[in-house]
Amino acid sequence: MRVSHVLLAGSAFAAAAPPAPDADGKYTLEAAGIKAQFIPYAATLTNLFVKDKNGVERDIVLGYDNTSFYPVDPGHPVYNAIPGRYANRIGGGKFSIDNVTYHTELNDGPNTLHSGTKNWSFRTWNVTEVTNSSITFSIYDPANSTGMPGRVEASVTYSVAKNKWKIVMDAISPEAKTPIQLTQHTYFQLDAFANPDNRTIWNHTLHMPFAKRVMVADQNALPTGVIDDVSLGEIDDFHTAPHKLGFASDRVSFEDHCGNGCHGYNGNWPFDDGRNKSAVAVSLSSGWSGIRADLVTNQDAIVIYTCNWNDGKTEFKSTQGVAGQDKFIPRDGCIAIEAQDYVDGINHPEWGRLSHQIFGPGQKYHWESEWTFGLV
Ligand SMILES: *[C@@H]1O[C@H](CO)[C@@H](O)[C@H](O)[C@H]1NC(C)=O
Ligand SMILES: *[C@@H]1O[C@H](CO)[C@@H](O)[C@H](O)[C@H]1NC(C)=O
Ligand SMILES: *[C@@H]1O[C@H](CO)[C@@H](O)[C@H](O)[C@H]1NC(C)=O
Ligand SMILES: *[C@@H]1O[C@H](CO)[C@@H](O)[C@H](O)[C@H]1NC(C)=O
Ligand SMILES: *[C@@H]1O[C@H](CO)[C@@H](O)[C@H](O)[C@H]1NC(C)=O
Ligand SMILES: *[C@@H]1O[C@H](CO)[C@@H](O)[C@H](O)[C@H]1NC(C)=O
Ligand SMILES: *[C@@H]1O[C@H](CO)[C@@H](O)[C@H](O)[C@H]1NC(C)=O
Ligand SMILES: *[C@@H]1O[C@H](CO)[C@@H](O)[C@H](O)[C@H]1NC(C)=O
Ligand SMILES: *[C@@H]1O[C@H](CO)[C@@H](O)[C@H](O)[C@H]1NC(C)=O
Repeated sequence: MRVSHVLLAGSAFAAAAPPAPDADGKYTLEAAGIKAQFIPYAATLTNLFVKDKNGVERDIVLGYDNTSFYPVDPGHPVYNAIPGRYANRIGGGKFSIDNVTYHTELNDGPNTLHSGTKNWSFRTWNVTEVTNSSITFSIYDPANSTGMPGRVEASVTYSVAKNKWKIVMDAISPEAKTPIQLTQHTYFQLDAFANPDNRTIWNHTLHMPFAKRVMVADQNALPTGVIDDVSLGEIDDFHTAPHKLGFASDRVSFEDHCGNGCHGYNGNWPFDDGRNKSAVAVSLSSGWSGIRADLVTNQDAIVIYTCNWNDGKTEFKSTQGVAGQDKFIPRDGCIAIEAQDYVDGINHPEWGRLSHQIFGPGQKYHWESEWTFGLV
């Protein structure tokens, strides 16, 4: 897909030309140990290459080879994109601000998911700045585009440094108070589907030392309002020690754990209040490739989804897998890791998250995360 891009005024006078997109519309950022590629559609990361324990470059995120397919993909899994202006679910597709009730599209059973069937993850963002190590995408979201009041102006800057991918998002709502909750909806497969013996995510290891509580959710993966403590060895325990994602897969409770027909995880863990925000909050690794991914974030919660709804009919990229084998992604073939605030916090004032999720004139929304890649 050919895309137009807007360069910052003055860039024509810079000593070296900034990077341009390739024939497929991808912008490439590179630093020692990492290469990342992006397209303006949904501000998407299409490819992320890091080295495995044998020094082989692996593309460890999901996506399509064909960049023209992202906008028309009927499944629209929000591969490594930015859903907005309010990520994840809005219970009953409604919320109130100052006694006015607003309605959003019901696109996920009785609820709204990722702000509806169009919107931030369905739009081609503007490229507002690009250098060899960073790219900034921006979006202007008109009032009521998703049923939410006031216009929102937002940007995401992706940058790379040695073994690191950094993501910074900023947003303002200059006219009215409105919900803002963003995330980078990154889907990982640290073996890049090249493990000949297993394409599922269950042998990946997850550690989330600050995730000592979890949201209780209903059959549509919507939080009920109850927040439980997670004790040693429980199905949601990834805090007492690193656990394989499939560690509880033989338990009856694993079935339907993330809603009707959904086994494994599609949950939301609030982090400890007052935790050290410079410390690694989520660590994902795979013994097969030896790749480890560590997340540091300013966000107060995490959503983890283990790809139950993959139906085995979608193919992974030609940069992944093993030559000569089929390229289908199985059920449970990946993990989405989404740093954000509490899911549906706008409908749970008792959680005290309104000041983290409702923004109006003069207020600034700021999200930042950094992934560091290394070996187990
Ligand atoms: C960006 O990288 C390209 C290719 O390595 C190089 O030619 C160019 O000078 C670099 N631009 C800047 C601004 O560093
Ligand atoms: C890429 O996807 C677009 C949109 O679905 C389609 O029209 C085109 O034929 C595809 N190209 C290739 C090479 O698969
Ligand atoms: C909302 O309604 C309640 C009850 O009628 C009232 O006390 C309160 O002042 C209203 N708040 C605003 C911001 O209008
Ligand atoms: C991109 O910029 C143009 C010109 O300012 C604007 O009309 C358009 O709405 C912007 N697109 C997005 C996705 O914000
Ligand atoms: C917002 O958009 C919806 C759907 O287009 C429309 O029904 C509603 O009246 C609009 N609300 C306002 C306040 O403009
Ligand atoms: C989402 O945004 C797009 C682009 O602004 C708009 O055309 C569409 O109506 C919106 N969708 C919903 C479900 O509100
Ligand atoms: C992959 O490994 C998991 C456990 O790590 C196991 O449950 C599953 O059956 C394996 N799948 C295949 C196709 O071997
Ligand atoms: C917070 O974590 C960082 C990174 O691990 C560490 O360097 C720092 O000492 C920690 N701060 C405190 C107060 O523990
Ligand atoms: C599962 O992971 C362990 C290390 O954690 C590794 O030794 C083993 O080979 C893996 N199994 C498969 C089927 O990849």
